[in-house]
Amino acid sequence: MASNRDIRVHLWPLAVRLRALPPIALAAVAQLAALLLVSLPWFLRLLPPGVALSIPALALIEGGVAAALGYRLGLAPWWVPIQAGFVPALVAMLSLDIPPLWFLAGFTVLALVYWTTFRTQVPLYFSSRNARKRLCELLPESAGFSFIDLGCGLGGVLAHLGKRRSDGHYRGIEAAPLPCLISWLRARGGAADCRILWGSFWTLDLADYDVVYAYLSPVPMSDLWHKIRAEMRPGSLFISNSFDIAGANPTSIVKADGVQGSTLYVWRL
Ligand SMILES: C[S@@+](CC[C@H](N)C(=O)[O-])C[C@H]1O[C@@H](n2cnc3c(N)ncnc32)[C@H](O)[C@@H]1O
Repeated sequence: MASNRDIRVHLWPLAVRLRALPPIALAAVAQLAALLLVSLPWFLRLLPPGVALSIPALALIEGGVAAALGYRLGLAPWWVPIQAGFVPALVAMLSLDIPPLWFLAGFTVLALVYWTTFRTQVPLYFSSRNARKRLCELLPESAGFSFIDLGCGLGGVLAHLGKRRSDGHYRGIEAAPLPCLISWLRARGGAADCRILWGSFWTLDLADYDVVYAYLSPVPMSDLWHKIRAEMRPGSLFISNSFDIAGANPTSIVKADGVQGSTLYVWRL
């Protein structure tokens, strides 16, 4: 008979493979495994006699198991409440008897806004007003400079800068369709030369810009730094809002104080 140690040795490669999955896939694996673990004894009527669990109770237990499994498999702690609440929230929603079209509509809007966030791990949030002000002060003094916002969201940064420094050429690139459309509409209404591209900034050549701005997440920063060093011209500026790059000393650090305080890390190439 296989000992506990044998079982652990056999399961180890599986655990290593699972840990290599992107977080969204790991979360799905944890949910499926928890669903199986919790529902099988119920379906197979293996529960001790007299124990009758309601669907909401099973959903809560499933959530707890999914959260624990996900955490053990290496999901970040902030996934715990998401994993724990997912199936209970589904059960609660189903009990409200909402027409299915609303779910389709909600899913469609969220998909159009967050698009590839599950892969890029860069969600949509916005540069604060103070960060935009400090950013404006960092623009080159001479007219005709080129600026790009990598992942321009709803185009707020471009609109702010274009209003104050209409002597620059602005570009934004955004992967998510709905934010991209909104940025495009805003750019059409602005005074400055501003164009919006739909796609991934990984396909762009950054040599075309005097100033490259990014407000992303810790995940892409190391790869982005390689791209910046390979492509940006000497003397151009790379500015990262909030996310520093390990091992790359910034030329200067600008604090953007205020309620949503943030830091701009500036590199002169
Ligand atoms: C935190 S938001 C920043 C929005 C805006 N730049 C600002 O500062 O207010 C980051 C945006 O980058 C977009 N994004 C993430 N990865 C991307 C990629 N590889 N190419 C283009 N856009 C990307 C996301 O869809 C998201 O809208």
